Amino acid sequence: MQTNEFHKPVLLETAIEFLITDPNGIYFDGTLGGGGYSELILKKISREGRLIATDLDDAAINFCNEKFKDENRIIIVKENFRNIRTIFKKLNVPKIKGAVLDLGISSYQIDSPSEGFSYRFETDFDLRFDKTKGNPAYEFINQMEAKEIAEILRIYGEERFAFKIARVIENYTKKKSIRKTNELVDIISKVTPRHKLNDTLSRVFQAFRIYVNDELNNLKTFLNDVIDLIESGGRIVIVSYHSLEDRIVKEFFNLNSQNCSCPPEFEKCICGKKMRLKKLTKKIITPDESEIKLNPRARSAKLRAAEVL
Ligand SMILES: C[S@@+](CC[C@H](N)C(=O)[O-])C[C@H]1O[C@@H](n2cnc3c(N)ncnc32)[C@H](O)[C@@H]1O
Repeated sequence: MQTNEFHKPVLLETAIEFLITDPNGIYFDGTLGGGGYSELILKKISREGRLIATDLDDAAINFCNEKFKDENRIIIVKENFRNIRTIFKKLNVPKIKGAVLDLGISSYQIDSPSEGFSYRFETDFDLRFDKTKGNPAYEFINQMEAKEIAEILRIYGEERFAFKIARVIENYTKKKSIRKTNELVDIISKVTPRHKLNDTLSRVFQAFRIYVNDELNNLKTFLNDVIDLIESGGRIVIVSYHSLEDRIVKEFFNLNSQNCSCPPEFEKCICGKKMRLKKLTKKIITPDESEIKLNPRARSAKLRAAEVL
């Protein structure tokens, strides 16, 4: 399989242009996927440059181990990017020149029945990036009350009919456990108009995926730690696809590009906070029309970049 068949990288040139400031530096690609970003990073760095890349998905790890088998400048680790501190400790890497995340899921994960991320295929309602750790989505959903399900759908899926959907799910699970994606599709189709069904299912699956993988906390932990691990002048580049993720990045960059975060009514600063970042993207960068035409999945991408001071 070619890289573009596994996943067509989004905002590729822009992201890597922001990332690389020194061809001899060490870089981190936290979301390896089909290795599109990593491939371009390796093209741009010198023979002395290095790349550490992580993913949680076995298919991505196997695909990239094969793809980069003759490349000795990359270290591929099956790990959560939120563990960047421990990953670097184990590898004996003190500081790097830049880190990039391209969040969400790859086309392979959406399009492959065995990955279980899509409502289009009849598989276990699992949704974990790493199927060897934690609990699958069906275990959570079977144990939850309508109120909890509705919260997940409302917050992570921005679903207007969250409670209505949650109630039919709870009515079902009171009698019988859900295991397969098609069971959930049948339940939801009973309370959703036909022409809205695909959009509703996408939101429900996305919401549970974010919940099961603890995606927002992964991002928060990563940002808090990576800032200490990047040399002065190095960069953080994040491409996100969900408004809550973008808000986390925006707020983190805003907070760390100010000297003090005391309330405005305070006469004197008591927090002593020092500015640690310079924002490189005053406004978000989004793919242009031509990229969206070639790759409709790029539609919701938002890029933000910052430099460590
Ligand atoms: C949009 S794809 C990345 C595509 C990649 N930039 C490329 O060019 O092919 C996102 C990838 O991030 C991985 N991922 C998501 N959350 C992760 C996490 N917390 N730690 C490691 N990998 C993660 C997913 O398994 C998926 O392969």
